[in-house]
Amino acid sequence: MNVRNNHEMPSDIEPLKEDPGETEITLQSICILEASLARFASALPDSLESHVLPENDYLPQLKEHSGETRIMELVSFLVTRDFLERFRLDLWNWIKDSPLREVRFIVLSDTDLDLKAVQPLPEELIHLVLPEEVSPSILVDVVRNALYQLELRYERLSLQSRLALSTQEMRRIIRVGQAMSTERDFDRLIDLILQQARELVGADAGSIYVTESPRGNEKPQYIRFKKSALELNANEFLLPIDTSSIAGYVALRGEPLIIDDVYALSGDEPYRFNFEFDRLHNYYTRSMLVIPMKNHSGEVIGVIQLINKRTNFNKALKLDEMRSGHVRPFTQKCNEMVSALAGQAAVSIQNNKLLQNIHNLFEGFVKASVTAIEQRDPTTSGHSFRVAEYTTHLAMALDRSRDGIFAPLSFSPEQIREIRYASLLHDFGKVGVREQVLVKAKKLYEHQLELIQWRFRYIKKALEKEYLDKKLSFLKDSGHTGFDYYEKYLDLELRDRVREVEHMMQTIEASNEPSVLESATFAQLEQIAQNRIRLESGKEVPFLKQNELVSLQVRRGTLDQTERLEIESHVTHTYRFLIQIPWTSDLRNVPDIAHGHHEKIDGSGYPLRLRGEEILPQSKMMTIADIYDALTAPDRPYKRSLSAEQALDILKIEAREKRVDEKMLDIFIEAGIYKTVEPQSFQAETQNVIRVTG
Ligand SMILES: [Fe+2]
Ligand SMILES: [Fe+2]
Repeated sequence: MNVRNNHEMPSDIEPLKEDPGETEITLQSICILEASLARFASALPDSLESHVLPENDYLPQLKEHSGETRIMELVSFLVTRDFLERFRLDLWNWIKDSPLREVRFIVLSDTDLDLKAVQPLPEELIHLVLPEEVSPSILVDVVRNALYQLELRYERLSLQSRLALSTQEMRRIIRVGQAMSTERDFDRLIDLILQQARELVGADAGSIYVTESPRGNEKPQYIRFKKSALELNANEFLLPIDTSSIAGYVALRGEPLIIDDVYALSGDEPYRFNFEFDRLHNYYTRSMLVIPMKNHSGEVIGVIQLINKRTNFNKALKLDEMRSGHVRPFTQKCNEMVSALAGQAAVSIQNNKLLQNIHNLFEGFVKASVTAIEQRDPTTSGHSFRVAEYTTHLAMALDRSRDGIFAPLSFSPEQIREIRYASLLHDFGKVGVREQVLVKAKKLYEHQLELIQWRFRYIKKALEKEYLDKKLSFLKDSGHTGFDYYEKYLDLELRDRVREVEHMMQTIEASNEPSVLESATFAQLEQIAQNRIRLESGKEVPFLKQNELVSLQVRRGTLDQTERLEIESHVTHTYRFLIQIPWTSDLRNVPDIAHGHHEKIDGSGYPLRLRGEEILPQSKMMTIADIYDALTAPDRPYKRSLSAEQALDILKIEAREKRVDEKMLDIFIEAGIYKTVEPQSFQAETQNVIRVTG
């Protein structure tokens, strides 16, 4: 037990050397007379405490300096020269023995005092040398004078030290305030407040409660236990803001509470101390200082509860010491100092919570935006979330690597967050790409293919009509003679021509698939397009229009050049969208990181055709994640899903060709980053929204 947290604190907060919350020191003036000078004792005023040393006993027994009775002894010694020379060493040790002891010697001697003979006693301790036959009244005056001088000296030193201590405390409270205002991590902030409050007044233990935000305009009902200085492994729990606990009572009243000894409470107090705590944790609570943390509007943001003020400021208490009275009460000064700290703590906690709310709000906005975008192409559902996971994991792996090329590279938690936002939003610019291009599964759009199919039906009908016309004119001109033979001949010819047209349509339909186009088919399409059909109006229409031919002649994938450029423009749209956002300084690189996600190391990427070092490392990581996810993502109409091995093989080729970073890819593979996300994951994020929005 009594293990205490030792968190790292900001290095510029110096530890307090003295206990600033100490009780006042009282002064005690004493006159000590050597046995042979006892005759002067009766002359001393009754108000002055005096001791005559017994024969051969040269060291006076004075006050016990326990922590609770802090008495500064101002001692005037009345001694003979002989006595001083004989016992100088013992006296010097006795003087040095207590820091709360100031001594002056009044020496009776008819001869001059040899200062060397009384060393190591310093000269300034010899107040005066008087003749042995000095009158008692003069002697009393000298004794008083010596003590008065000591008193003045003590007052001066004490004022100086109090001033120094206040300055030190003030500086410390300001430093702690600065440290608190810059601490973004809520748990570390709570640690900092608790540790500093404890150190400020030498509290052995303590805990922090934070007011639970109420709904709407309701009054807060609970405080949440956040942290104990004792390592209790206690989970967070809620306490009602009422009189059933001390922290709840202080949160209710909004006033500090000082309890000198909880075991001396009468039971009539308006609050209850939970003695179970001591029993459960093998601790002994005696003194308490419980301070509300209030914001500028006077609202209680939380409670600092400090327990057991130590007797020795820098030394932890043992259980038996707590029980046997080695605990001191907290003073009014402790209250003032912790209250000053609590005010700053309240503001920091509130700022931290506000910041967290802003983060949550932004996080929610980013997720909603990404989900909205992915809804336009449900087959890519979850892509951005998975890319964000892969990229941040890769960044953390690079940050961990202590040797090799990435040793100097490090990413702070803020930079990881920056990478995450850039990854989540990297494809946001797809909002500027027409949906039909985005989801284009075949080389021809549906409506284009339908038009061609109707055209070919028309061509077939036109052929049939052409042959029927031929038959009709034969009958008109020549009658039935030889018609049978002629009809058979025409039917055979028509059948061949219809077959030819059907074959053309089959070629078109086969070419419409996103597979790689053979050069023979390429030429066939060219030939098909050269055929024309004459409409009844006399206008001639090609079997395939130029735009249809261009689409069908795409050699790989489904997009023609214009569509490919349109898709590629999503990166520029992303960048233009992201630079509109007033990013905070720790997220300022989000637009640039996202802008680089299609750049390739050899300069073959887009849109800026950056090369090598011109591309941010964060973008290079995202490129690997983006390609990997695109390859392994569940089937899309235009692309089948690849296994992890196949995808990594393709990435390895990309790395060999100097398009993606080879070393980063090594870590992506070796550290198993590619396994950190399931290819199907995050799809639900989009599906949920689809369900909600219909
Ligand atoms: Fe992209
Ligand atoms: Fe992407």
